[in-house]
Amino acid sequence: MTTENSGTAWLSTTAGTSWTPPEIDFTKPQTARMYDYYLGGKDHYAPDRETAERVVAVWPGVGKFARANRHFMHLAVERLATVGVDQFLDIGTGIPTSPNVHEIAQAARPEARILYTDHDPVVLAHARALMNSTAEGRIDYIQGDLRRPGTILGHPCMTGPEPVLDLGRPVAVNLVAIMHFITPEDDPRRIIAALMDPLPAGSHLVLSHITAEFAPAEVAAAAQLYRNQGLPAHARDARALADLVEPLGLELLPPGIVPVNRWSPDVSADPPPAPLYTDAEASCLGLIARKS
Ligand SMILES: C[S@@+](CC[C@H](N)C(=O)[O-])C[C@H]1O[C@@H](n2cnc3c(N)ncnc32)[C@H](O)[C@@H]1O
Repeated sequence: MTTENSGTAWLSTTAGTSWTPPEIDFTKPQTARMYDYYLGGKDHYAPDRETAERVVAVWPGVGKFARANRHFMHLAVERLATVGVDQFLDIGTGIPTSPNVHEIAQAARPEARILYTDHDPVVLAHARALMNSTAEGRIDYIQGDLRRPGTILGHPCMTGPEPVLDLGRPVAVNLVAIMHFITPEDDPRRIIAALMDPLPAGSHLVLSHITAEFAPAEVAAAAQLYRNQGLPAHARDARALADLVEPLGLELLPPGIVPVNRWSPDVSADPPPAPLYTDAEASCLGLIARKS
């Protein structure tokens, strides 16, 4: 059974809730499947490929953006798990791409719990098929829209008797390569505040975001192709990201807001690790912020 909550059709593998495949429109491109195409995956359809190929034509480095972003996610989750974070809320999960958040987190902390969320039902179908809880840890998947954050934290899998995440303990909220789909009209700071406000001190925000600072023509042309398909796309620079995070009282951890290709958990490394990509190839900024 599909239930409606604030306009969102819920889909979950949580025990006790039901599953009804929703209407999936395969005639229009979707960001998750286009991203899968950039990463060399197989889970995309003709409209996704056609639009993705147009994006590659104007921004040949888009595959490197995707890989640089995944590398940042990997390092950031590993860093947080290493310092003791064992609960992750991953919003905008994407088609499962190994290593996924749970593989990285549970390698360091086998008891780690991960709640994956995406608004694309195709993502959930793949996640259900590919990702399973372990004896020690737990993972779950829900369909939810970041633009309505209350419906994610208020989902039955979070409000029931055995919530996937314990909101009384620190949680890392991953907004990895998703906030550029949130327009200014959606009020991105309100969204981040709604996610972080209910969480206790010691919680973290992991954020990565497309920027047009290093390859302005390519990124602008790619964003326009997304918008032509009705897909929101909004690049932001480091100042704009700071404006989203700092007014909320979140403390930016070293190295601050930097291109993901140069982000490193070890800021004291001398020399710093050689970046895998140039700033223009990655065209993506990353940060970790902590709630105190
Ligand atoms: C570029 S992919 C990023 C996937 C993964 N986080 C990563 O960085 O590798 C963006 C994901 O965000 C999802 N997404 C976009 N807008 C969303 C929204 N408003 N609510 C929830 N998910 C959304 C898309 O379906 C897609 O899976």
